Amino acid sequence: MSLLIRNGRIITASDDYVADVFCENGVISAIGVNLPDHRYQADRTIDASGQYVIPGGIDVHTHLNMPFGGTTSADDFESGTIAAAFGGTTSIVDFAIQYRGSTMRHALDDWMRRAEGNAVIDFGFHMIVTELEDAGLGDMDHMVRNEGVTSFKLFMAYPGVFMVDDQTIFRALQRTGSNGGLICMHAENGGVIDELVKEALRRGDTAPKWHALTRPPTAEGEATGRAIALSEMAGVPIYIVHLSAAHALEQVRQARDRGLPAYAETCPQYLFLSYENYEEPGFDGAKYVMSPPLRDKWHQDVLWKGLAKNDLQVISTDHCPFCMADQKILGKDDFSKIPNGAPGIETRLTLVHDGGVRHGRISMNRFVELCATTPAKMFGLFPRKGTIAVGSDADIVVFDPNRKATLGVKTLHMKVDYNPYEGRTVQGSPSTVISNGRVIIEGDKFVGKKGDGRFLRRGPSQAPSGL
Ligand code: URP
Ligand code: ZN
Ligand code: ZN
Repeated sequence: MSLLIRNGRIITASDDYVADVFCENGVISAIGVNLPDHRYQADRTIDASGQYVIPGGIDVHTHLNMPFGGTTSADDFESGTIAAAFGGTTSIVDFAIQYRGSTMRHALDDWMRRAEGNAVIDFGFHMIVTELEDAGLGDMDHMVRNEGVTSFKLFMAYPGVFMVDDQTIFRALQRTGSNGGLICMHAENGGVIDELVKEALRRGDTAPKWHALTRPPTAEGEATGRAIALSEMAGVPIYIVHLSAAHALEQVRQARDRGLPAYAETCPQYLFLSYENYEEPGFDGAKYVMSPPLRDKWHQDVLWKGLAKNDLQVISTDHCPFCMADQKILGKDDFSKIPNGAPGIETRLTLVHDGGVRHGRISMNRFVELCATTPAKMFGLFPRKGTIAVGSDADIVVFDPNRKATLGVKTLHMKVDYNPYEGRTVQGSPSTVISNGRVIIEGDKFVGKKGDGRFLRRGPSQAPSGL
């Protein structure tokens, strides 16, 4: 199967030029101006005049088919990856969970069963580690060296579920110094939050907004600073996930100014939504119950500046959808029982393009860097993924900067009964999405195939090279 994309404006993290892209057997094999027909005979030609040709988005933080909060996230690997594809994402890195008393091997096998045969785009896994005895340290080495699972998420929050202590965190960090893995940290002070939650419930404060009010930004700032200090003592890089607050960003900025390899991602919800959403009538605030929670609006500007100045390196989604009707409702009388998470796998590129590029906050190159190139580098997928170059996988998005859309449950494909951006109009969205050289999205139609997504054995992070 061969494919020729003519006359698009190719944007990578560093380049911006008009040319043709020829793909053969799933890989980009030639790029040039006016590639001659007689040499580049394609099974299919796409005219991309007036549109961007960008590398497929890479979302390094998703939770598909994940048991959590007494239920399971609403999108499975089929529906979630179809939605991702509609949004211009062609690779995800999801999370396998090593539960206490079980092994990383078991976790990886379990999540492979969930994904293989279902995903329509390529997928990899981070490993969530909930305990780390000596055998677990060996498991970490094995995951990095033999399984292509080269990153591990640890939690400083959710006591009794995922939270680990500083000693465990330090052991894991130290081990990445020898095995080349990368620790991804959920940085919120779980002990403090637990106390605040108990106090709120004792007072009878049970509404969704108390989720945010019991998880103050200082709890995120403190944990972020502590995580970075632990990584400094271990002498290894660290990656802070779903950073939401200026307090946490300040810790990352200071560490980076001191030359430490500290990295962080934020997510569209922290750039476009705010605490006010929790004040929506009735139980609607539950739509936004996620951790960390949405912050006061002023944090958004600080995060945008962090993205522009490279104190934040990645935009991921933390897609973790739960339906209002039968899942979020579990916390009707107690905010602490509302499953944590919100949908976003489909709306990342269009939101960031509209709010970031069109509003002059970041350049088009930076957009590609944040949503594809750096995620690929950070998580060992570059240059196979994350750029438009000869030899790279033909994961390509033809992105129409003028295509307007109204976001909402009726127009989107995520399997969840609400959308946090319902009614918001955005300009710029994918018109064609190509995964491994095959067109999988054509306008408003999914034309890919369940099970075509391949497991990505990732290499070591390129973060130590300085991102
Ligand atoms: O609320 C969230 N973020 N749910 C997903 C789990 C996590 O902590 O990333
Ligand atoms: Zn988390
Ligand atoms: Zn998450």
